[in-house]
Amino acid sequence: MRVGVPREIKVHEYRVGLTPDAVREYVSAGHEVVVQAGAGSGINAADAAYEAAGGAIVANADAVFATADMIVKVKEPQPAEWKLLRDGQILFTYLHLAPDPEQTRGLLASGCTAIAYETVTDASGGLPLLVPMSEVAGRLAVEAAGSALSRHSGGRGVLIGGVPGVPPARIVVIGGGVVGTQAARMAVGLGGDVVVLDRSLPRLCQLDELFHGRVRTRYSTAQALEEEVLAADAVIGAVLVPGASAPKLVSRAMLGGMKRGSVLVDVAIDQGGCFETSRATTHAEPTYEVDGVIHYCVANMPGAVPLTSSYALNNATLPFGLALAHGAMKAVTSDIHLAAGVNVHRGMLTNRAVAESLGMPFTDLASAISAQSAPGRTEDWTRRGY
Ligand SMILES: NC(=O)c1ccc[n+]([C@@H]2O[C@H](COP(=O)([O-])OP(=O)(O)OC[C@H]3O[C@@H](n4cnc5c(N)ncnc54)[C@H](O)[C@@H]3O)[C@@H](O)[C@H]2O)c1
Repeated sequence: MRVGVPREIKVHEYRVGLTPDAVREYVSAGHEVVVQAGAGSGINAADAAYEAAGGAIVANADAVFATADMIVKVKEPQPAEWKLLRDGQILFTYLHLAPDPEQTRGLLASGCTAIAYETVTDASGGLPLLVPMSEVAGRLAVEAAGSALSRHSGGRGVLIGGVPGVPPARIVVIGGGVVGTQAARMAVGLGGDVVVLDRSLPRLCQLDELFHGRVRTRYSTAQALEEEVLAADAVIGAVLVPGASAPKLVSRAMLGGMKRGSVLVDVAIDQGGCFETSRATTHAEPTYEVDGVIHYCVANMPGAVPLTSSYALNNATLPFGLALAHGAMKAVTSDIHLAAGVNVHRGMLTNRAVAESLGMPFTDLASAISAQSAPGRTEDWTRRGY
């Protein structure tokens, strides 16, 4: 199959769909890879590195979209890209269609098969292509907290690890999932006094085992939350209730009782935020202050470290991408986890949750594929034996 990697065009997006290492894997497996000139510039991967990996550099996005059988990206396609997608082409990227009817209509009109990273599943019921970005965000959250705690940033002027004779900062992590675990790991590594609150007892057990007592775990009741938040130097909000907006766990009234110059890092801001006073910020201006408490609420935290994030994302997407390249329809019909990723197939919306949230008609994937198999609807890559 010919795989195409366009340069990301969403504002401030510096990640890339395939790193040179991943291109080498595709090429070794017998596929062709076309890469738009400059696609890797955000991670300092020169065109020459892609060529050394066996990729072919083409001048612009038009040349990528016009010739590739599968497009591998990071962010959802922008309006200019909807028009470049072709009937029968595979698109493999983050989509987040549920709140985005315009993009959904654009993808439906293109006739492409759009596979969303965020809905690909794994055997344990997880979302393996979301995990790497949660890992990055969790680790970054502690860096963000440490920076915001500096006096010159408006913080309390506390060093996370303290020094001998001076106690460390109290770091409260609300939600002990992927983000929370990585945040706790970083905070412990820096010598912080760390507590993780969660509503899942099995999760708290796992964390207790994992950190050998170096992290306090606490069941997340309103009382426990209030006690911990009021004593905190930094609070990291890392909760997720699947399919729902984040619950507001820290009210504005609680801010008045917090230490002046303490910090709230709301990683869950992409789900509406778990602090009442959170509003989404950007890397250009990541923090603001409410009632003497510094808020950090960047909605795309991994964008700050595109090199790490691109490699982390590629590590997770590579096996799925290779399976698609070996035979896209065979891969989605034989692997329920990849099938779960198919949101749009040749003009039909094949993800029930997305269809319901957009109020659009849903077609199950098997019916969509058999409709597409009707005479006269054979994709290029099927004709070519992929
Ligand atoms: N801002 C960013 O750039 C960024 C990047 C990645 C992920 N995120 C977001 O971070 C959040 C966490 O993601 P994750 O991958 O760690 O999810 P996860 O499902 O792995 O973990 C969420 C945890 O929250 C716990 N939880 C739910 N309700 C709770 C409550 N009331 N009190 C305490 N704990 C509670 C759950 O039991 C679970 O352990 C999500 O909203 C995700 O979208 C944001």
